[in-house]
Amino acid sequence: MVSEFQQLSVPEGKVLFRESDQADCAYAIIDGSVQISVERDGKSVAIATLGPGEIFGEMAIIASANRSATATALSDCVLQRIEAQQFTHRVENLDPVMRLVIEVILARFRNMLNCVEAGGVVTRSANSSELPHFSEAMEHLQLEHELKIAIREQQLKPYYQPIVCLATGKLAGFEALIRWHHPVHGTIMPDAFIPTAEQSDLIKGVTSACLAQACRDLPELRLAALKNIEQVKPVFMSVNITGRDLSNPDLLQEIQSNLDEFGLTADMLKLEITENSLMHDLDAVAEVLLRLRELGIGIAIDDFGTGYSSMSHLTQLPISTLKIDRSFISAMPTSQQNRNVVTTILRLARELGVPTVAEGVDSLDAIAFLADHGCEYVQGYYFSKPVPLRDAIMLVEGWRVDAAENGETSIRAM
Ligand code: C2E
Ligand code: CMP
Ligand code: CA
Ligand code: CA
Repeated sequence: MVSEFQQLSVPEGKVLFRESDQADCAYAIIDGSVQISVERDGKSVAIATLGPGEIFGEMAIIASANRSATATALSDCVLQRIEAQQFTHRVENLDPVMRLVIEVILARFRNMLNCVEAGGVVTRSANSSELPHFSEAMEHLQLEHELKIAIREQQLKPYYQPIVCLATGKLAGFEALIRWHHPVHGTIMPDAFIPTAEQSDLIKGVTSACLAQACRDLPELRLAALKNIEQVKPVFMSVNITGRDLSNPDLLQEIQSNLDEFGLTADMLKLEITENSLMHDLDAVAEVLLRLRELGIGIAIDDFGTGYSSMSHLTQLPISTLKIDRSFISAMPTSQQNRNVVTTILRLARELGVPTVAEGVDSLDAIAFLADHGCEYVQGYYFSKPVPLRDAIMLVEGWRVDAAENGETSIRAM
């Protein structure tokens, strides 16, 4: 009998599955007992009796293998069915190293089962054909190892991409985007190592490196801005942080000491955090963000539109900027739906009373559309790719609001 919750009443003696069968589910025992047995030399050998609170049938699913043993109800049982997908989905989302550890343990256990007649003595250890995620996990471990060295040896340096005020055409600030200058592999882009850094504690080192260097470089950029005051605002600096950084108890202190060391005030710094990482442990996140806002630091929600925040979440958080994800901006020319998403976000930001930055702006048409719909700031290859400090200073010095008059590109068309 199958109830709404997939609970089964199973009579004594029923074989739930046999060794070598294909698997589509596991079971939790709510009531009764189940015998696990293996076939050896034509004889059934009982290897375990399981009772309420135990799970069986999980091994074949996690290892994508056939059943390692036969399961038979020893008494009338109530079992909870757990669909294969409910396990596999979670396993796929596991940290690759943890996934490897699970695979190793399962492979070892299967080998022990194969050696039942030898008293459980394992004669063969797991090999990599039974461990499909072996190489991936090794790559992660190697990357973590090299990243640790990179942080120590200061191989991580930010590049800077300008953020432009649409109403005036003035350069308003920069986003610091980290680059890894690897001694052998050359420049490595953040997408290749930030996810691994986030899975380990190394993200703290990445954030510290980017924050410290960006704060060190900001006075030079602001000095250059002072020399071109007609075309450039007193530039701010925007630094990316992650959800993990927000749970670092030293974060506020670290930010404050960087501001103090380089003679900066809090309003010169913004922190960008992705919409998705804000949504875990909302109360704790809101508290840290509030303390940052009280210091005077700007908080931008990054990649806005790609996550799951609701209106009530947004009003709970002390946000000072919304950054519209570049996927919406780049798809605007070909998709009315994306243009609708962008105008909806712009309207939402107005309701919330926060300015917007559109990312990934790479055409004059995009600029015109965004200006028409009340977007305040733009950032993208149209103006500049992220560049090293020297080039960023040159950008500030040479910035022209009305460059069209010199026959160059212009944002006057807005
Ligand atoms: P993000 O924060 O969304 O940064 C914007 C990304 O879009 C940057 O990629 C930038 O180079 C790229 N971009 C800007 N304008 C355009 C454009 O017009 N067209 C296209 N195709 N791309 C554009 P980048 O530098 O490769 O950074 C990728 C991601 O890595 C960032 O996305 C951010 O999530 C992460 N990241 C970068 N630096 C840091 C950091 O210091 N800390 C943390 N936690 N994450 C970082
Ligand atoms: P699976 O391989 O899917 O099918 C048989 C199940 O029996 C297996 O998953 C485990 O859940 C369970 N099993 C195998 N060996 C033992 C054991 N020694 N002790 C307890 N349960 C076991
Ligand atoms: Ca960002
Ligand atoms: Ca972004």
